[in-house]
Amino acid sequence: MPEFIARHRVVETGLDRIIDTVNNEIDEFGVSTIEMFYDHKTEEMCCILDAPSQEAIKNHYTNAGLVCGYIAPIERIDTKIGEKSERLRAIGELAARLAHDLRNPLSVIKNTVEIMESKPVLHIEEKIIYHGRLKRAIDRISHQLEDVLDFVRPTNMKFQKHLLNDVLNSAPEKIVRPDGIEIILPTKFVYCICDQTKIEIVLVNLIVNSIQAMSGAGKVTVTLHDTPNDVTMQVSDTGSGIPENILPKIFEPLFTTKQTGTGLGLASCKKIIEQHGGLISATSKENHGTTFTMILPKQFTSKKIEKLVASN
Ligand SMILES: Nc1ncnc2c1ncn2[C@@H]1O[C@H](COP(=O)(O)OP(=O)(O)OP(=O)(O)O)[C@@H](O)[C@H]1O
Ligand SMILES: [Mg+2]
Repeated sequence: MPEFIARHRVVETGLDRIIDTVNNEIDEFGVSTIEMFYDHKTEEMCCILDAPSQEAIKNHYTNAGLVCGYIAPIERIDTKIGEKSERLRAIGELAARLAHDLRNPLSVIKNTVEIMESKPVLHIEEKIIYHGRLKRAIDRISHQLEDVLDFVRPTNMKFQKHLLNDVLNSAPEKIVRPDGIEIILPTKFVYCICDQTKIEIVLVNLIVNSIQAMSGAGKVTVTLHDTPNDVTMQVSDTGSGIPENILPKIFEPLFTTKQTGTGLGLASCKKIIEQHGGLISATSKENHGTTFTMILPKQFTSKKIEKLVASN
């Protein structure tokens, strides 16, 4: 039966009747009271009722000599169904985006292979050009797939005490750094309980974004600071900056301003930092640069970790 919420003022003469209606399991109008409480703020009685219709509730109150000022159906949202359809919608959007993004590099591969097949002899210069074209297209596909997998794959976190500097030193090795770009790493040693591989994914994503925002020349500076409770890690660049109107959107999954981006880089970073019980934020000034700040709790107790691992 549908559930309703009803409110009415308490009149002294009506108290006995109210008690009667509660005791009366199901009345002649098919109404039964599930819960009842007094709202001190509005000085009203607030009831949750099971009833066939609003009309039946009106009759129920008239019969009890009470005037009901407010009746409304309770919309019970099935959160599981809600979450599932939200997830399915996101996966659908992601699949459509992925299919669209993979079409370009795949057609480059297809055309290049056809050209190569149509030529009886390939000169070394031609081989170099075709090889480069194929490699770039394959790299694009694998980057897009890795981004998607990082974001959607359920992960088991492996929390251990690490020297964060080791993680920071290994990240730039996974990046193609143009000659004009300098990456400055911190010299201060800081330990933290974290999942090394995941923090490395965060750093790689942030540094790659910075490099892409600097069109061949500039500086990326990574800093580490710690207090007895937290570690603050910052990645700053001297790049193009982020316009004020898009800054609030950059952590949203699938948000991108790039032709070949999936828009999952920063969404993955946010997810990973939150899985560490931390926070990530960005500040930026157009044409001057951007700073990403991550705060990770140091005293990340095993209890908190277990809870987080279980919820992910
Ligand atoms: N350091 C930065 N400087 C300027 N803009 C940035 C920076 N980092 C992120 N952005 C902006 O935020 C958007 C979202 O970044 P995100 O890393 O999530 O996706 P992407 O880089 O576009 O694609 P992907 O990381 O999947 O290749 C970017 O498209 C860009 O507009
Ligand atoms: Mg990115």
